[in-house]
Amino acid sequence: MIYLRAADRFDVRSLAQLRAASLAELELLESAGQDAFVASATREFWRLFAHDRIVAWIACDDACVVATSSAVFYDRLPYPDGSRHAELGGVYVLPGYRKRGLATELVREVIAAARAGGARKTFLRPTKSAKAIYARLGFVDTELMALDARSARAREPVLAALPTG
Ligand SMILES: CC(C)(COP(=O)(O)OP(=O)(O)OC[C@H]1O[C@@H](n2cnc3c(N)ncnc32)[C@H](O)[C@@H]1OP(=O)(O)O)[C@@H](O)C(=O)NCCC(=O)NCCS
Repeated sequence: MIYLRAADRFDVRSLAQLRAASLAELELLESAGQDAFVASATREFWRLFAHDRIVAWIACDDACVVATSSAVFYDRLPYPDGSRHAELGGVYVLPGYRKRGLATELVREVIAAARAGGARKTFLRPTKSAKAIYARLGFVDTELMALDARSARAREPVLAALPTG
């Protein structure tokens, strides 16, 4: 039987394994590095739970964790209604469990948990295949820009010559 529940610090190994599977599917993790990644990701998830910086939900098929969604809290500069924000991420469903509404339900729960945890706004960076799910749940495109890590321009001086004296 498949059921959904909030994850806690005792689920960190399952969360790390699903994270590895997700990154492998996106070709961001090679199979040779998977065991080491799962070990370090397990520690990182543990740290996030210990510092109250994550909310996560999982779907279980009996004892096996088959899908997950998380949000990580972070601070931005202060606003009148607070500085705590959340980034939704780690939305992953094992291939055999897709197209049954699991991601939609898990994301819905995580949005509610992020709000309950004091997030002023929740952001995400969707993959193409998941964008429709988020749009149906109320996410809209914003004008967020990201610095291209390969770009050297951020290191170039904007002012060729600063006025002196
Ligand atoms: C993207 C991903 C999370 C979706 O998970 P999922 O559980 O299949 O998602 P849902 O079932 O909630 O929705 C997927 C589609 O199935 C449809 N669906 C939901 N329940 C259904 C059902 N019972 N019968 C048929 N279709 C159904 C939804 O309407 C949705 O349609 P869409 O493709 O037009 O958006 C999953 O494919 C995945 O893990 N992909 C790899 C990682 C990834 O891209 N993660 C997103 C990071 S932002």
